[in-house]
Amino acid sequence: MLGPLNHIAIAVPDLAGAVALYGKIGAMVSPPHDLPEHGVTVVFIQFLNTKIELLYPLGEDSPIRSFLAKNPSGGIHHICFEVDDIHATGRKVSGLGVRMLGSGNPKAGAHGLPVLFAHPADFFGTLVEFEQAIAT
Ligand code: CO
Repeated sequence: MLGPLNHIAIAVPDLAGAVALYGKIGAMVSPPHDLPEHGVTVVFIQFLNTKIELLYPLGEDSPIRSFLAKNPSGGIHHICFEVDDIHATGRKVSGLGVRMLGSGNPKAGAHGLPVLFAHPADFFGTLVEFEQAIAT
């Protein structure tokens, strides 16, 4: 049911500083990318087996602002697993008593693919994103 770890998202209070630090340790860092519909500016750090997404607030209503208010140094915001059937995953995970955020219906995520988020209180303290993998 679960595919690869697609990404780890890390909220940072200083995007330029984070980019500089990751660059200095030899990471492959992308240019910043604004996603206004998600209220974030994202920088992708590509690894051979997965990626990190640095998240920085974009706009006053950014969901990252409250996270950074609670975690002023930044921190891991969520992890994302690829799944081959987002609707089946939603039904299965919900059936285990794990609440989904929002309407519970998949929405387009940061990569334009359908995603669901499971409530961290029902997932041992971690915000878990499930992302529909591109059909092959
Ligand atoms: Co994500």
